[in-house]
Amino acid sequence: MGVFTKPGPRQYPHQWNWDAALIALGLSYFDRPRALDEIQSLLSGQWQDGMLPHVVYHDIKSDYFPDPGFWQISNSLNAPKCATTGITQPPLLATVINKIHKKFSITDFIKEIFPKLLAWHRWLHTYRDADGTGLVCIIHPWESGTDDSPRWLNILENIQPINLTDFKRGDTRHVAARERPFPHDYQRFIYLIDLFRKYAYDQAAILAHSPFVVQDVLFNAILYQANNDLKALGAAIGVNTREINGWLKSMEAHFNNRFWDDEEGFYYDFDVRHHKSIKISTGITFLPLYAGLATQQQAERLIKDHYHNPNSYARDEHVSFGLTSASRNLAGWDPRRYWRGPVWILLNWLVYHGLLNYGFESEAAQLKDDSLALMSKSGFREYYDPRDGTGCGSEDFSWSAALAIDWIQSVE
Ligand code: DGY
Repeated sequence: MGVFTKPGPRQYPHQWNWDAALIALGLSYFDRPRALDEIQSLLSGQWQDGMLPHVVYHDIKSDYFPDPGFWQISNSLNAPKCATTGITQPPLLATVINKIHKKFSITDFIKEIFPKLLAWHRWLHTYRDADGTGLVCIIHPWESGTDDSPRWLNILENIQPINLTDFKRGDTRHVAARERPFPHDYQRFIYLIDLFRKYAYDQAAILAHSPFVVQDVLFNAILYQANNDLKALGAAIGVNTREINGWLKSMEAHFNNRFWDDEEGFYYDFDVRHHKSIKISTGITFLPLYAGLATQQQAERLIKDHYHNPNSYARDEHVSFGLTSASRNLAGWDPRRYWRGPVWILLNWLVYHGLLNYGFESEAAQLKDDSLALMSKSGFREYYDPRDGTGCGSEDFSWSAALAIDWIQSVE
């Protein structure tokens, strides 16, 4: 679109935070200036307190809901001048910039954007650290990027969307409703946004009162890796990285205590509002491998007991492609519905790197092969049915294409 790339031409017509990071990674292989523009464009939506929003609405007409006005971000004194949403998304950006830097040495660019990245991570560690552990909270399923993941269903179930504002969904206009979140969940997504508008995006008030406050394994694993990458970027331009070291140490000290269930050999998210583990099995359990936060022994249990378990994640005569985003033994497993079961290229890419970190070379190779096979068979789709590889969700999905390029071009 000139200054940014749509994640999906009709379904996602603005700029999404973690999509933009991955799109920049893909672009960097063949058009570096355009890749850096993508990043600058995303950063143009940064809030004055450092928050990097989950969507930046560029000046184009679209039928996307929620439209920019819906968020009422001007209720907050921290809002930027341009139109954005009022929540954030998993912080992949520093990691992508470090990957691009390792290939092409973009030191001047890093000097320019480093303060903005630092401000975002500082915002996360300040306004989203509910208990001084260095683990950050998400306040909306959309912040996890895995909107209708079974991980959130119990919490959503217990939210009563009283006086729900009028709205009309846009997401089932271009994609079949059977592949999108159920109305029940979507109502609660909107109810939460309405609460945030009423709190004028005051993070302390939201953490104190909102019904959805979660420490998410995926978000924290991505943040931990991104802090390491931010530290490397700081070192590359001679900046003191003591503050980042502090975040890393604190996350290291608390990550396994908070998320690892030693009985089951599994990583579970933590419901901060109700102070309990969310014991639902999804593919997110493998994310600590990506961040290098599991011990070798933990990694082996994850792979042996779960990744290769025929009841949950292993391929079998019914499931030809990995990795299913949710365990097959969940009651609500739904192989074509958004995050309830389908294969996502991003999840595969993150887990692929995690598997390599711990020496699971053949598992990693198979996950890469599965991903490329799915894209060859069904095109660059948003997600895929793990049984037969049917493409689902948005067509021409940008991060699937970007990660295919990265897989094919990168030299590990
Ligand atoms: C959507 O529009 O459904 C997105 O997932 C929200 O980020």
